[in-house]
Amino acid sequence: TWENVPLAPPDSIFNLNTAYKADTFPRKVNLGVGAYRDDNSKPWVLPVVKKATEILLNDPTLDHEYLPITGLPEFTSAAARLILGSDSPAIAEKRVTSVQTISGTGANHLAALFLSRFYVFNGAKRIYVPDPTWINHYSIIRNVGIEPLTYKYYDPKTIGLACDEALGDLVSMPDRSVILLHACAHNPTGVDPTQEQWGQIAEVMLRKGHYAFFDCAYQGFASGDLDRDAWAVREFVKRGVPSLICQSFAKNAGLYGERIGALHVVASSPEVADRVRSQLSVLTRSEISNPPAHGARLIALILNNPELFEQWKVDIKAMANRIIEMRKELYKLLTEELKTPGAWNHITDQIGMFSFTGINAEQSQALIDKTHIYLTTNGRISMAGLNTKNIRYFAESLDKAVRG
Ligand code: LMR
Repeated sequence: TWENVPLAPPDSIFNLNTAYKADTFPRKVNLGVGAYRDDNSKPWVLPVVKKATEILLNDPTLDHEYLPITGLPEFTSAAARLILGSDSPAIAEKRVTSVQTISGTGANHLAALFLSRFYVFNGAKRIYVPDPTWINHYSIIRNVGIEPLTYKYYDPKTIGLACDEALGDLVSMPDRSVILLHACAHNPTGVDPTQEQWGQIAEVMLRKGHYAFFDCAYQGFASGDLDRDAWAVREFVKRGVPSLICQSFAKNAGLYGERIGALHVVASSPEVADRVRSQLSVLTRSEISNPPAHGARLIALILNNPELFEQWKVDIKAMANRIIEMRKELYKLLTEELKTPGAWNHITDQIGMFSFTGINAEQSQALIDKTHIYLTTNGRISMAGLNTKNIRYFAESLDKAVRG
């Protein structure tokens, strides 16, 4: 049996981790997967997570019973307030359904599955994703029988947003299309619309009756401010663009392996929200029965305890600021010291965990092969992998790759 099974290629992002680990070169650098590292290239357990863990460990009331199918209620309600705002009218009007998911990937999957079952598509089942987008979006969408198509997003000439083309694509696609939007800190480009551009996108989407499928994996990472990074989502909901939001706590709480996230669907009335919840519950039951407890308990504590919440904000700022410092340093090294050909202002203009360097697949591969610097071959680097010890080596290697 199974002779028919073809060998699948390794995952393009996680395979870089494997290759990096196997590499014995002392100055190797891992800029592949989007996972925060401290200045010593080590994973960082957030101080707030340490405190919350301590509290959980000393809580004699905790057991290992099943959570409700839709997740820990203290977690899902606080997670909704975090993304939609504690003063959100949609929450006050009980129009928001929130379900715990297996991190952001699980939220994307559940959202896509729900759409494939219940969204009244205008013709074929399609979700439009930005070009480029997180590579996994394609597989997640295809897995539930929806075809992923792209809309223009990135302009390689400016290494910035192709706003007019994006708006043009939104206008020319069928009415009531589903549009995947990165809420902040676009992965892989680090290029986000300005508030004015978000306004234009919302305006077109309302006019066309499009549906906003927000993926929010980096709240806090773009600006260091949780509220500011939620601006686009809140603005869309305020304007009445029909929306759902996939939320991950992998990056902003450093809980990668705990797989803690949520899906929030904003409905038109409390009654519709209840029906949506009932179906999300049915889908969740058949797929994972009920979600895991530990990450949900940690985040529920952090979000609902004012002291821990303040500590979390400090921790997020520490991560965001270190990345911003690395952007400034890299820009300085490339432009002032090495005088690397080309304009490099995109390094400091882009935000969040990733930077699209603008180098091509060949140059990216050369960095991997010749200098032991691991990055995805679309030229994306995880800024969080840079630190005061390796940034000069990276800048010099990038300089050489660009000069060819
Ligand atoms: C990334 O893009 O590197 C991260 O979102 C991790 C992942 O799951 O791919």
